Amino acid sequence: MANTKEAMLKIIEPVSADLVLLDEAVKNDLKSDIELIQRICDYILSSGGKRIRPLVLILIARALGYKGKEHIFLGAMVEYIHTASLLHDDVVDESDVRRGKPTASFKWGNSAAVLTGDFMYSRSFEMMVRTGNLRICEIVAGSVNRISEGEVIQLLNIHDTTLDEKRYFEVIERKTGILFESAARLAAVVAGATREQENRLADYALSLGRAFQIIDDVLDYAGDVSKTGKALGNDLKESKMTMPLIYALQNCSPEDAQIIRNAIGYGEYDLDQIIGIIKNSGAIERCFEAARHELQKGTEAISFLPPSNYKNSLIELLTLTVERDK
Ligand code: IPE
Ligand code: IPE
Ligand code: MG
Ligand code: MG
Repeated sequence: MANTKEAMLKIIEPVSADLVLLDEAVKNDLKSDIELIQRICDYILSSGGKRIRPLVLILIARALGYKGKEHIFLGAMVEYIHTASLLHDDVVDESDVRRGKPTASFKWGNSAAVLTGDFMYSRSFEMMVRTGNLRICEIVAGSVNRISEGEVIQLLNIHDTTLDEKRYFEVIERKTGILFESAARLAAVVAGATREQENRLADYALSLGRAFQIIDDVLDYAGDVSKTGKALGNDLKESKMTMPLIYALQNCSPEDAQIIRNAIGYGEYDLDQIIGIIKNSGAIERCFEAARHELQKGTEAISFLPPSNYKNSLIELLTLTVERDK
């Protein structure tokens, strides 16, 4: 696995000045005079998120030749939507650790975390309205809507050991892919790209989002907790079939298949045993293949962009997403 930190430094290099502005915007633009909201927002926004979605937005805007500053504002808005979804996600998933620290729901309780998530979502909606651009409103509102659908479809899928690749992709495209896609579309709109260009950039970002979630699901079984900052085995704890288990079921002994079905179906399992079954079945390697397929498709989708450091970074970001360890 590549050195994630070094590779990331190289990727962000062409937009390092923009990212300083983004960091200021993200940390300073979310004010509330309700102290608890402010405390939770400050806590989660300073806890070391990777800021990948705004990075995609900024890189694409620059790759399209955009020279203005509005992409910073839009990047902060997208990061708020992402962060709100994490606040809610950790309640739904009953997760105690994120970014190597206690989750907001663990520290302040579920109610405070959900309500602060609502505050962040609605603040991003205020920001979107402030742009006065109906296309931007359409993209942002649509993405939040489909993230919620993705989370609900995933909820309906729990305990279901018949989940296949098609239904898995349906979930990850909505819950994760859509926000990457929206970041790309916002960049295209702000930079004045054609609809055809916008759609190709959206394809790139959707591939990036799929690869990102596939690897997140791999790291859930095979990651290094000190790097991911999240506990192992969360998906299994939630009785949720993800790509590693789908592939393991297709290629293990009938005995091991029964062990997986008991785990997902009835919550009876030993995590180390399941991890062993996944690794022995070759499922991890197949997940990497699926992620690499997205890498290929995503790279192809942006072949129309003129050569630039920004374009190189977009391609490197796809590569790193597949190789990342955090
Ligand atoms: C976590 O996203 C949620 C997923 C879609 C897997 P990130 O891994 O981008 O989270 P942070 O913001 O860097 O913590
Ligand atoms: C995150 O999904 C997707 C959203 C936040 C909408 P997960 O539940 O798989 O992500 P992690 O692993 O907790 O970050
Ligand atoms: Mg989660
Ligand atoms: Mg979740």
